Amino acid sequence: MSDKFTTQSFLNAKKNNRKITMLTAYDYSMAQILDESGIDAILVGDSLAMPIQGKDSTLDVTIDEMLYHCRCAARGIKTTMLVGDMPFLTYQINSDEAVRNAGRFIQEGKVNAVKLEGGVSMAATVQAIVKAQIPVMGHIGLTPQSVNVFGGFKVQGKEESAAKALIEDAKALEDAGAFAIVLEAVPEKLAKLITEKVSIPTIGIGAGKYCDGQILVVHDMLGLYSDFTPKFVKQYAKLRETMAEAVCNYISDVKSQQFPEKQHTYTMNDDILERLY
Ligand code: KIV
Repeated sequence: MSDKFTTQSFLNAKKNNRKITMLTAYDYSMAQILDESGIDAILVGDSLAMPIQGKDSTLDVTIDEMLYHCRCAARGIKTTMLVGDMPFLTYQINSDEAVRNAGRFIQEGKVNAVKLEGGVSMAATVQAIVKAQIPVMGHIGLTPQSVNVFGGFKVQGKEESAAKALIEDAKALEDAGAFAIVLEAVPEKLAKLITEKVSIPTIGIGAGKYCDGQILVVHDMLGLYSDFTPKFVKQYAKLRETMAEAVCNYISDVKSQQFPEKQHTYTMNDDILERLY
């Protein structure tokens, strides 16, 4: 059995120029598949709002919902590192609440680390959580919990001032003790610059190839969720079609009595059966 991937593995990977692989997962079976396939880390993202809950934003996902999905995913993994995403308003109010809620992710969610959105504005909070011995992954660029401020899900950091602010955000997270930073929907060359300027790994999603690692929402890359597919997603399978075909075959088999067959049924002693008539 190979070793568990840890926060130290994240830092070693950056030092050794070895790309880090991450995907989201929200349940036992998916986490088990990713773990057995050798993924480095799994994020139980609040993105579950879309493919799991059918919502159009992450804003009303609750901490109890997140903890439930973290526990489900945790049962499926052996060597993969598990990161739990802190939902909206569970860390923004003050550092004390943030530490308490991050602690719930460790104790009740069985994760190894938490992720939260924000840079400079969240640095003191990150520092407080790290001081409580809970590893923190930062997330800057397109931070979906700020969708109402951004006015939509848009690329971030294209203008000079916004690009400078993102560099400051990344440095602030590094100084605060974050072990990695997700860069979402950031121009590739800016992501490259940020990656060079910080000593902790950057994990890109829509941030190009120069990041130290990559993450995608698993339902997007497997072709399971079709409501909206961002430009940065590569579909590695079309499981929605595969699943729909299987369901259609099942319906047809049941209707034509081709299922169940002998090997799917239980037998009993005919004498006993006779006496029941
Ligand atoms: O919630 C999530 O899945 C995320 C990733 C897309 C980085 O934050």
